[in-house]
Amino acid sequence: MNKAKPQIYDILKREHEEVGELLHRLKEAKGRAAEDLFNQVRLKLVPHSRGEEAVVYPRLQGEKTTAEKISVSFEEHRQVDVLLEELGGMSPRDEEWTAKVHVLVDMVGHHVDEEEGELFPLARNLLSDREAAGLAEEYAQARDEAMQAMTTEDQRGAAE
Ligand SMILES: [Fe+2]
Repeated sequence: MNKAKPQIYDILKREHEEVGELLHRLKEAKGRAAEDLFNQVRLKLVPHSRGEEAVVYPRLQGEKTTAEKISVSFEEHRQVDVLLEELGGMSPRDEEWTAKVHVLVDMVGHHVDEEEGELFPLARNLLSDREAAGLAEEYAQARDEAMQAMTTEDQRGAAE
């Protein structure tokens, strides 16, 4: 049997699991450990969102069965971005840190459940295996570019 190329669903699901694990640890963490975990979450989650927005969502936005879910997904990403931005300017010692982390964990969990439980099954009906494998490659490229841009930005910020 030929080894099948990974499809977009496989990559996204694996990253969801990785982010979920980090978020779970972030909830329990304090002080410096919480700061480190937050940075790991941010560096994983932001490129993931940008990659989905650049490659996956546009493909599904024009389809009748998925258009509305994609609008909701874009909005959920936006709200996650806002929370990440706010947490990025805070310290784990700040009073609102724990509350914001909890909301972040809940929002991401809900979003992931919707993507995996509702969006992916619909997408599987729309996309051939070949197209889903092509999207996986394009997605990985967009995600890596976003990651690169973020680390350059972080280094610039640190140097200032
Ligand atoms: Fe997403």
